[in-house]
Amino acid sequence: MRTELAELFRTALTVSYPSAGAEPVVAACNNAKNGDYQCNNAMALFGKLKGTEGAPKAPRDVANAILGALPKNDLVAETSLAGPGFINIRLNREYLSKRISGMLTGGLASWAPTGHKGKKVVIDFSSPNVAKEMHVGHLRSTIIGDTLCRIFEYCESDVLRLNHVGDWGTQFGMLIEHMADTRKARVAAGGEDKDADEDVADLQELYRAAKKRFDEEEEFKTRAREAVTRLQSGDPVSLASWQRICAASRREFEALYTRLGVTLQERGESFYNPMLKDVVDELKAAGVATIDDGATCVFVEGQNVPLIVQKSDGGFGYASTDMAALKHRLNEEKADWIIYVTDVGQSQHFELVFGAAKKAGWLVEGGPKVSHVGFGLVLGEDGKRFRTRSGDLVRLVELLDEAKSRCAKTIRERREENGEEVVEAEVEEAACAMGYGAVKYADLKNHRTTNYKFSFDDMLNLKGNTAVYLLYAHARIAGIVRKAEKDVYALAASSPISLDHPKELELALHICKLPEALEDAIEELAPNRVTDYLYDLSEKFNSFYVDCKVIGSEQEASRLLLSEATAVVMRKCFELLGIKPLYRI
Ligand code: ARG
Repeated sequence: MRTELAELFRTALTVSYPSAGAEPVVAACNNAKNGDYQCNNAMALFGKLKGTEGAPKAPRDVANAILGALPKNDLVAETSLAGPGFINIRLNREYLSKRISGMLTGGLASWAPTGHKGKKVVIDFSSPNVAKEMHVGHLRSTIIGDTLCRIFEYCESDVLRLNHVGDWGTQFGMLIEHMADTRKARVAAGGEDKDADEDVADLQELYRAAKKRFDEEEEFKTRAREAVTRLQSGDPVSLASWQRICAASRREFEALYTRLGVTLQERGESFYNPMLKDVVDELKAAGVATIDDGATCVFVEGQNVPLIVQKSDGGFGYASTDMAALKHRLNEEKADWIIYVTDVGQSQHFELVFGAAKKAGWLVEGGPKVSHVGFGLVLGEDGKRFRTRSGDLVRLVELLDEAKSRCAKTIRERREENGEEVVEAEVEEAACAMGYGAVKYADLKNHRTTNYKFSFDDMLNLKGNTAVYLLYAHARIAGIVRKAEKDVYALAASSPISLDHPKELELALHICKLPEALEDAIEELAPNRVTDYLYDLSEKFNSFYVDCKVIGSEQEASRLLLSEATAVVMRKCFELLGIKPLYRI
């Protein structure tokens, strides 16, 4: 609706003030009393025209002239002027009602934001590091990244979900060497001379033990360094050890992704390794990179540090890999938009990478876009960085387990209280949907750049802006529709939705705003636009339901359709947020 209105006003502006070249400014009204939408062009246009020949006398004159040129349409029911020259717009009820009927019969595909169809969108998210802990920061990246992917997928973009796993680097030297020592010790103790699964069973422990020796034993450190060189030169034995570590790590990550319902294509740092030298050579040859204090650097305007694409010892690092990855995504993947989801701590890194790419001419005005989607920290209830009591980083798997078991407990209790049968398989399904949904929702509902406190009590609250509350709200609506025992889809085709009651109208208007919430989410790359919309939707439904009797009322058919439309749109939001809807709890 916002886009359609903007188009109408675009025409009105070109007709009334052809030479002003004004872009329509249309937004939803903050106060529903004034109208549904407003057009705010008159004031600025008045300022612009001041002093020109035949200039209008007041902004209100401009507004009237615009209104006079508004093309005939079936969207706007009435307009009014307010303040210095705001144009308030009231939408046509019939238009809203038809939109909703059309959505019920034709599905939600046509409600996806336009302009992204067929566009190649590469989203680099999750991206944990092999053999290091996958911490809550990676959880945030996974959840936010997945939601962005789902939104673009709804828009029918060609989405490439990339897991830029940290699977290459000097840490592998010490890991490989430590594993070799463990095997030698096993042989010396009379064991078999072959690899054992237990060597990679606990990767965090492997990392910890190897790191300790690396820091404390000079001789081990030297051997670890040599192992890196061997690995980099393609020595088969070292490569085999490296692969075993990666495979074990992959199994852990995959288990978590399966639980969360997230799919990702792994394309780790090692993938770009063969390209690093050429990329750095290209940057040097083009004069984009220069040698500074032995290191190869790209200096980017406005940045106080350079991007180091090759260290003084000749080694390549995180930055070189990101340059190679960017080039690959532009040239081979033919990306239209590349999006990176990491904590805000990496903002400068990405500013440098994007700046260097501009300097190299890889990114040009009007060409493919790049965006860094930064997010804040997850804090514990004490307001400090989220850690376990013993001070360790919180293991993601344990978090999900706890959320799930807490939900299972409440669901069971509720059923027993209501004298309902407790079917374990159902409890399990509902507990997963609620528990994992709650963790995701609690993360997504904050603007991504804010730090938020991780609290099971808050996120599992039955009241308030939580997934649990919303899942119950949805199940309740599904229950209402079920109870009516009508074929709502047949109804949608035959019976119109009447919006005579103000609460019906308010709900209908909000239902129709889904595309706008998604446009805003894309514009700001902010999933909380979707959670805000969803929460408002359920509030609007509640207030409709309080005042408007559904089953057994004269308007039963029409109100059932509104209820079903609410449920359909709620499910779409759940889907975009990666939350499984429940029909009965
Ligand atoms: N592995 C990195 C980390 O854990 C995140 C990688 C993000 N993606 C990228 N292309 N740099 O911090």
